[in-house]
Amino acid sequence: MKNTLIVNYTPRIGSNTKILVDHFTALNKDKTKITVLDLAKTAPDLLLEENLNLYVKRNFGGVDLSEDEQKRMYHNDKIVQQILDADFIVLASPLYNFSIPATVKAWFDTVISAGKTFTQTATGPKGLCENKQAVLLMTSGGDFNSEPLKNVNFGSPLVATCFGFMGILSESITAFGLQQYQDKATEILEKAKQEVEVLSNKWY
Ligand SMILES: Cc1cc2nc3c(=O)[nH]c(=O)nc-3n(C[C@H](O)[C@H](O)[C@H](O)COP(=O)(O)O)c2cc1C
Repeated sequence: MKNTLIVNYTPRIGSNTKILVDHFTALNKDKTKITVLDLAKTAPDLLLEENLNLYVKRNFGGVDLSEDEQKRMYHNDKIVQQILDADFIVLASPLYNFSIPATVKAWFDTVISAGKTFTQTATGPKGLCENKQAVLLMTSGGDFNSEPLKNVNFGSPLVATCFGFMGILSESITAFGLQQYQDKATEILEKAKQEVEVLSNKWY
């Protein structure tokens, strides 16, 4: 059975993004081994002075860390291992302030890990996560499918770039405009749920 990692940031009571990720889980829970990382409960450590310098020393400098230093890195190392172990990755996140929530960015800042998920070569950086596929499930209040907001959607393109940097092919399923078109919100969500079904049939 293939491994699926679900990474969700869906803290709002009544979260629309949670509706999409719950639909994915209900459809696929018997078809794949699912590991869940709920970022609203277990966030990665931010790259602060201490752990950032340990990361640079170890991952860029090739220096072995002491036992105490390794312990400091353990939480984020476990999060990196989750993506390495996954065949499929589902990232469920709303769009916040034209981009991804800081907690989701902190996850990318953790899993984009030199020597683990990407490496440098003479011709530039190379993703090390071949043979993995990812999907972004994203909702937003405004209609980021159309101008003028389309032009300032730094959320789903950033996610595709980050996955691509690690060598992971990704696609996105979005339910944009849930507040802008309140009367059509159910319809927009239903369409996204149908896209989740199509993706599920493709993946498993
Ligand atoms: C902190 C915050 C920032 C938001 N920023 C945006 C935004 O920049 N553009 C937008 O269209 N909607 C924005 N929204 C609305 C959410 O994207 C929208 O309600 C989304 O469906 C929320 O997902 P959820 O239902 O899973 O919580 C924001 C909501 C919050 C709470």
